[in-house]
Amino acid sequence: MEHQQEVSDFDRVVADIQKQVEEQERTLFSAKVIEQARYPVNVGRMDDPDGHAILWGSCGDMMEIYLRLNGSGKTIEKATFVTNGCGPSVACGNMIATMAQEKTLEAATQIEPEDLIAALDGLPPEHVHCAYLAVDTLREAIAHRRMMDETDEV
Ligand code: FES
Repeated sequence: MEHQQEVSDFDRVVADIQKQVEEQERTLFSAKVIEQARYPVNVGRMDDPDGHAILWGSCGDMMEIYLRLNGSGKTIEKATFVTNGCGPSVACGNMIATMAQEKTLEAATQIEPEDLIAALDGLPPEHVHCAYLAVDTLREAIAHRRMMDETDEV
């Protein structure tokens, strides 16, 4: 009986802490950032990708992006990402992968960090660099693809 009481007290403390963390998250981040960070749908590595890049941000965090192109080789059919970074970097990786899909390589290169930040309904100033890391990694993956095409032409 006493043990059961301790367990339910412990559960209540854990639930309270969880609630506090979630409230704090909501004051710092938009609902979109929280949703993208918690339920990313574009996570993963690809075997034999059509384009790939791995970059490290100034914070030391890593971002990888993989591209799969459609038959014409001009449009991104699928983009995935992997990061070991913060929650916002997961949100940025997931959103940039979504934004790149169905775009031509040219159009995807033109996605700016500000576009990504807007799609996430904003980022706190201390996490703006996470958006730059995601955009730079996407551009690098596209550059990698172009390099492969040029090599094939030679
Ligand atoms: Fe380094 Fe977000 S990517 S803190």
